[in-house]
Amino acid sequence: MASNIIDKLESLVPELTSALGQASSLEEVEGIRVRFLGRKGLLAELMSQVTTLAPEERPMVGKIANQAKAAMTSLWEDKVTAIKSQKQQHGLEIFDPSSPSWRPDLGSIHPITKVTREICSVFTSLGFDVVSGPEVENDFNNFEALNMPLEHPARDMQDTLYISDSILMRTHTSPLQVRTMLSRKPPLAVIAPGKVYRRDSDLTHTPMFHQVEGLLVGKDVTMADLRGILTAFVHKVFGQDIKVRFRPSFFPFTEPSAEVDMSCVLCGGTGRKDENPCRVCKETGWVEILGCGMVDPAVFAKVGYDPDEYVGFAFGLGVERITMLKYGVGDLRMFFENDLRFLGQFA
Ligand code: DAH
Repeated sequence: MASNIIDKLESLVPELTSALGQASSLEEVEGIRVRFLGRKGLLAELMSQVTTLAPEERPMVGKIANQAKAAMTSLWEDKVTAIKSQKQQHGLEIFDPSSPSWRPDLGSIHPITKVTREICSVFTSLGFDVVSGPEVENDFNNFEALNMPLEHPARDMQDTLYISDSILMRTHTSPLQVRTMLSRKPPLAVIAPGKVYRRDSDLTHTPMFHQVEGLLVGKDVTMADLRGILTAFVHKVFGQDIKVRFRPSFFPFTEPSAEVDMSCVLCGGTGRKDENPCRVCKETGWVEILGCGMVDPAVFAKVGYDPDEYVGFAFGLGVERITMLKYGVGDLRMFFENDLRFLGQFA
């Protein structure tokens, strides 16, 4: 009886080997596994007979059965691996329902978009409307109406990307001041985010970058209003502890004009000069964030507003700069390379 079972057990391995030899698909191999190694398979059937043997015969036969099982399992696994790698070499997909699925990549808002939206929401909460206009502009809106006549150096071919003599890529968002005033009656308060273009490309300049323009026109508008609004803006975006200062400057379309600095976000305005000097403010404690001023009466005249009746203020800021300061990004190029490891941090 025992020798009969042993013979059958020993013949299982060559039988399995020959069955596997003829199989070429994972389905066939699975069928073979069920037939030989399954719960009701040939091996299980023989194992169940072991219990009918005399007690002293059982250990020896059991041992042979276990050896056969181990040998068969390993033959079967080798065959599965061989078929899978063959499939892979042929580029065929393997469906393995037990393998964990990959996590889909979730998109994230680009930091420039995120900060643009934040800036706009600060100003809309103060009552400003958001307006937009074309990136291809005419000379009148981009220069002429902004008090930059033909000879103005800002029109230099070095800076401006011209489409034709009078059509160009807007070099700033300030033409939205002109477009807004040509199409609306005061009082008004608008904010205009958008892309702008200049022939400039190095470590700290890109040919396309983003600005947000602001314009408010009314009857009793003063520079104190401008200061109040911009201070509120800086506090909302960077925190209440940040100090704001106005520095006299010049822009053709505002008079007086100012540049606005805020206390340095990195060194807390101390202008650290020690062994680890502040790289953000270059040890001055201040960083420039925008240009602004009271709308020049010459601009009102160009758009048909009565300069004796209306006053207004305008400002323009660079979104890349604000974003770099807000998130401590040290390299402008990060915004344009679209490296998902960088962008994903703004999810
Ligand atoms: N348009 C200016 C530039 O691109 C920025 C600017 C300065 C806008 C002063 C303004 C302003 O509205 O009042 O450099």
